[in-house]
Amino acid sequence: MEKMKIGVLLSGSGSTLQSMIDHIKNGQLQAEIVAVISDNMKAYGLERAKDAGIPTMVVSLKGKSVDDYSKEICQVLENKDVKLVVLAGFLHKYMNQNKDMSVINIHPSLLPAFAGKGMYGSKVHKAVIARGCKLSGCTLHFVNDEYDEGPIIAQDIVKISSVETFETLQQKVQAQEKLTLINGLRDIISGKVKRRGNTVFITRESQSSDKE
Ligand code: GAR
Repeated sequence: MEKMKIGVLLSGSGSTLQSMIDHIKNGQLQAEIVAVISDNMKAYGLERAKDAGIPTMVVSLKGKSVDDYSKEICQVLENKDVKLVVLAGFLHKYMNQNKDMSVINIHPSLLPAFAGKGMYGSKVHKAVIARGCKLSGCTLHFVNDEYDEGPIIAQDIVKISSVETFETLQQKVQAQEKLTLINGLRDIISGKVKRRGNTVFITRESQSSDKE
């Protein structure tokens, strides 16, 4: 089976990218990361990509409209025959320009809560703790043209203890994010993920009737 070609966009440390690289290396994910693109030349994720032999590119967003830089990034991904784009801590809007390419994002809260422009990383966890939530989690979703609003593929819950800080919550959610992303990627790669409007259905062999 031909491996699915994935492009990754990131802005920061790249622990999400690293998890994908490790799973691919161990044969636990049938995919190939063919490009890692960042808006931030200092992003440690670029080093992780280089160490794994993945081509990297920095695309400056300065002075460009979302439409223009999205087109620039999309052109690079198209040239590499990318079929799936993963936003792995990419802290800007990316507007998909190619209807044959799917774009997914992993967000560190249970959407639609704690979402939208400027709501990313530790800001999310600080807001969750400040609100006194008893649960948080992460959401894997398809990306549309609005921040954090595309169809939801998977959500997983993390419990918040009475002594939780935003740092401990972030650690727990980040660990869960990696599992959620890898499981979602496996479902997408194996063709189990179908979209109908704003709803995503995942076909499981043993229970296809209640999922579809
Ligand atoms: C992840 O926790 C991800 O959920 C978050 O950025 C972090 C990236 O970590 N993304 C967002 O908040 C998007 N709204 P990493 O650079 O170590 O992979």
